[in-house]
Amino acid sequence: MKIAVRYYSRSGNTKAVAEAIARAAGTQAVSVDREDAGLEECADVLFIGGALYAYGIDGHLKEYLKSLKADSAKRAVVFSTSWLSKHAIALIRKGLSEAGIPVEEAFFYAKGKPGEKQLQEAEAFAKQYLA
Ligand SMILES: Cc1cc2nc3c(=O)[nH]c(=O)nc-3n(C[C@H](O)[C@H](O)[C@H](O)COP(=O)(O)O)c2cc1C
Repeated sequence: MKIAVRYYSRSGNTKAVAEAIARAAGTQAVSVDREDAGLEECADVLFIGGALYAYGIDGHLKEYLKSLKADSAKRAVVFSTSWLSKHAIALIRKGLSEAGIPVEEAFFYAKGKPGEKQLQEAEAFAKQYLA
């Protein structure tokens, strides 16, 4: 099973969740602005996350979502962090749908900087999609 974890994080909160998910999946979390972030091979599951900044998602993540194609991943699972709003989830979901990638209804969300308990929850959440 090919699992990809992609994220964009300005201050590390979403990165911490991405790394917990990647740990569960036995893979690396890759920031979308890295050169190797592209999905050459179709992923069975793409975990993709970002945070909310002034009610929008970062431009790097927007661009990455635009670069995705229906054959980039068979399905996607979204994660996010923010102070309060879960709106980034809807924005990421929209980008995935526009790319033609089916998105799981369930998502992982952490308020602010995730603690150890939330990181464990993120790992457990990810494991549901790895069977
Ligand atoms: C400039 C800026 C704008 C933000 N705007 C929002 C917002 O509109 N709503 C919200 O709930 N959180 C907002 N946040 C909080 C971030 O989403 C939150 O700190 C998030 O965990 C940052 O993730 P990161 O560490 O992965 O960059 C904002 C943070 C910053 C720095």
